This record gives sequence, C-alpha cells and structure tokens, in this order.
Amino acid sequence: MQNVVRIRREPEGMTESSAQAAPAGGPVITARDLVFRYPSANGGDPTIDGLTLDFARGAITVIVGASGCGKTTLLNLIGGLLRPSDGELLVDGGVPAAQHAKMGYMPARDGLLPWRNAIANVTLPLEGGRSDLTAKGRKERARELLERVGLGRYVDYFPDQLSHGMRQRVSLARALVSDPQILLMDEPFGALDAQTRLRVQSDFLRALENSGRSVVMITHDLQEAILLGDRILVMSSPRGAILADRAVEIEGSRAGRLHELVVTDEFRALYHDLVDVVMSGFTEVPGAAGRAS
Ligand SMILES: Nc1ncnc2c1ncn2[C@@H]1O[C@H](COP(=O)(O)OP(=O)(O)O)[C@@H](O)[C@H]1O
Ligand SMILES: [Mg+2]
Repeated sequence: MQNVVRIRREPEGMTESSAQAAPAGGPVITARDLVFRYPSANGGDPTIDGLTLDFARGAITVIVGASGCGKTTLLNLIGGLLRPSDGELLVDGGVPAAQHAKMGYMPARDGLLPWRNAIANVTLPLEGGRSDLTAKGRKERARELLERVGLGRYVDYFPDQLSHGMRQRVSLARALVSDPQILLMDEPFGALDAQTRLRVQSDFLRALENSGRSVVMITHDLQEAILLGDRILVMSSPRGAILADRAVEIEGSRAGRLHELVVTDEFRALYHDLVDVVMSGFTEVPGAAGRAS
C-alpha cells in the first residue's frame, strides 16, 4: 500500500518548528516558563517546572507520558481549573480562566446523567441561559451531533441502555455541542476495548473534520497518539519536561482508515521510536531531561 503516514521528526529542542507549522492566527495555546506546584505534594517540588511550549491552532496535539508525570495537571492549567505558580500560560491570547466559553472538555469517564436520555445529556451544556438557541434548536443541534458520531438511532436511549463505546460517543457529542474552538480531552477513549476504540476514534476524527478546532488530547496509548495526533509530545517525570516532539502527517482523511494505517511500515517505525523515547524516560537521571521545546 501507499506511504500514507509521512513522519517528520523534529530535532530535539527545536522551538520554532511548531510555530512554523501553525496555521494563520498563531498558536492557540502558549506556555512560557510555566511552573506549577501543588502546595501539599512532592515536598513542594514543582510538578511542572519551566515548560515552554506552543500548541498549533487547528491541530490535534497529543500528550503521552507515564502516570503521574503531570499530563492532567497541564490540561487543568489550560482549562483554567488550576492557576500557574509562575510563568505564563495563554489560551487564545488570554488567561485560561477567562476563556472557558471557548473550551470543551471530555473526561475519561463519560459522566452522563443516568436520568437523561442521550439527546438530553448532549443539550445539557446549552441549558441555563448558556446558549441563544431555543429548546427546539438545542435539540436539533444535539441530534445532528449524535448523528455525526453514529448514534442517530439512539437519541432516545438512556445511558444504561447504551454500550460503553456509545456512551463515550454521547460524551463526545456533548463536548462538541457548544461548538468550542478548543477541545481538551483527558484519556477519552482509554476504557474502551480495542475494536470499539477504533470505531470511536474514527467517529471522533469525522466529527472534527474541517472544523478548524484545536485539540489537546492526553492518552497513554501510543497507537492512539499516532492515529489521531498531528503532533505527539512525550512528557517525562519529574518536572513535566517534554522528552520528544513528533509531527505526524497523513495524507487524506484518517477517519475510516485507521485499521489500514496501523499496519503500515511508517506507523510501526514511529511506534517503535515512541516506545524508545517512553522507555528512556523511565531510566533517565532526574533533572536530565531537557527543557520543553
Ligand atoms: N490535587 C492534587 N494535589 C496534590 N498533588 C497532586 C494533585 N493532583 C495530582 N497531584 C500530583 O501531581 C503529579 C502529576 O499528576 P497528574 O497531573 O495527575 O499526572 P498524570 O495525569 O500524568 O498521570 C503526581 O505526582 C500527582 O500525585
Ligand atoms: Mg492523568
């Protein structure tokens, strides 16, 4: 088969590469010497210590890294749930807490309300005066999104009548319903079996296609990182440094082709490369990891 996965590897420590790759409008998220410490944890040592990083607008940036290295912390900083201890973090040029309306969040657990059917779960973020749409308009929008993630026939089903994969798709539709420019996803497909995951990942890509949305996704699954990411960052512990920064370029639409992509030589090569980086992160001397690019 054709070479559909073209892998551009960036030299370690290059700072300009991501900015160059960013479409017009500049990076959507910028971190400069970002420091975060939980007051009560690690003897006051920072969880993130001097992170400088740009996230390209309109791209899917995936962050992988061992448990506890600070991925969720970084996502919560971007989402404005935590405030930096030092340094600067800007989302679309403003402080994260002021940009909530632009951001959608999809957690690992679907968090659907069991007493609401699929469509009523999806409309939830639009209720309480948070949208100009009428009740009918909200329903229409939710229905449209549920169709887009392959659940058009299940809009009246309640969460306990849906499979895990279907619930994750409802959760995805809910994260998209307020039309956020930026989607933050914390291991969203982690709990799905391999087959279901491929299906949901395809639906996710389809739902996002040509939307211009920027996505920051955390995963512990290197396959998922390559299949979904335009860029993959490997985060290390301690101090939340970036061990590696890889760009993935795949010609044409990825949705519906994921099962083909995983058997390409290019996929395997990048997978092995990432495994090497991730493993090197386990043995490194604390503090030896370079500052993030
Ligand atoms: N609320 C908290 N209070 C104190 N320490 C925390 C809190 N949340 C996370 N930590 C610590 O910060 C580090 C990074 O956690 P986290 O960002 O959740 O990692 P990851 O998502 O990469 O698994 C861990 O050492 C964790 O124990
Ligand atoms: Mg986490």
